[in-house]
Amino acid sequence: MRFAERLDQVSPSQTQEVLATVQGLREEGVDIIDLGAGEPDFDTPDHIARAAVTAIREGNTKYTPGAGIGRLREAVAQHYTNRTGVDFERNQVVVTSGGKQGLFNAALALFGTGDEVVTHVPGWPSIGEQIKLAGAELVQVRTHLDNSFAIRAADVLERISPRTRGVVINSPVNPTGALMSEVELGLLVTEITGRDIWLVLDLCYEQLIYDSSPHNLIGVAASKMPDRTVVVGSASKSYAMTGWRCGWVVAPKRVASACNLIQSHSTSHPTSISQYAALAALSGPQECVEKMRNEYRRRRDFMIDRMSKDVRFRTAQPNGAFYLFPDVSDCLDPEGPRTSIEFVKHLLINGHVAVTAGEAFDAPGYIRLSYAASLEKLEEAWERIQGCLE
Ligand SMILES: Cc1ncc(COP(=O)(O)O)c(C=O)c1O
Repeated sequence: MRFAERLDQVSPSQTQEVLATVQGLREEGVDIIDLGAGEPDFDTPDHIARAAVTAIREGNTKYTPGAGIGRLREAVAQHYTNRTGVDFERNQVVVTSGGKQGLFNAALALFGTGDEVVTHVPGWPSIGEQIKLAGAELVQVRTHLDNSFAIRAADVLERISPRTRGVVINSPVNPTGALMSEVELGLLVTEITGRDIWLVLDLCYEQLIYDSSPHNLIGVAASKMPDRTVVVGSASKSYAMTGWRCGWVVAPKRVASACNLIQSHSTSHPTSISQYAALAALSGPQECVEKMRNEYRRRRDFMIDRMSKDVRFRTAQPNGAFYLFPDVSDCLDPEGPRTSIEFVKHLLINGHVAVTAGEAFDAPGYIRLSYAASLEKLEEAWERIQGCLE
């Protein structure tokens, strides 16, 4: 059986086996603490859920315009204008089925055969796989633990070639929690502006930044290359809405139209109900975001405190998102577990704690632990992990 050639380029997930083991153990009734998932453990705030119920009751259950309902597009534009001081209009916004579809629309609209697109690793795998699905060549810049996984302009610029059509930056980064600094982005855009290069900013975790680091990447990019900057955001992480599948692309009008065209021939738009929920999220009270952010910060500090007392885990302090990404090579041994995938299996089978192996993010020797779990669970998980290492 032959599949389309584009599939030859796409890598399967390296963590499927671990996921299958989690599933199997759960079916046997084993109590697994799951620090593997990339999603908030909080329920969607009540006023958002109620807006969705109202949408159903009021009959807002039909097709919407492809780019999303006007009020939501307006709210997204307003959200970024308020946060960044850059003026956005509703016709620059396309509402998508999660940030993931926003990134995919952008990749399909902007990149193709013969193009190179630069991004950073360790990074969220879909960014790279989408670039390859679009037919372009993926160029990866490595960030390093010794440097707190900082994304440095000089490293990105070193990989720019005459074939470069795009640079995709994710900040805060999944899985490291690092931020790209305004200064580094400034250096980058100063160099690439005026060339035929798109800058795609994946800011899906932007409302989950824990320290007072300036992070107006949109402002920095817009000051030099407003016609070349594409922003992707999402309701998933900030409003605990992963299952609602609602995100957006904010881009120059012609790019927004191109993304809308692509989407109009695939999913059309996210469900009308989710769009009304996202509208309530963006235009309603924001205390819920702050409450969740404060709780994630407490959990991060707790985990960093525990981990820093164990020399076998070398980690950087994440500034955002909800992951720790320690180097666990000191826990590996030729007698086993020999790799981080084996280490993850060991923690799962012997400690009943699920985490994600660094291999999934192109970083063997590391693991990703999500702290989107209660403090009690994190405490118990850490004890179980310690027990496994004895
Ligand atoms: C870095 C990054 N970008 C984008 C997304 C997309 O999330 P969603 O499609 O739920 O908005 C994710 C989800 O895990 C992510 O980690």
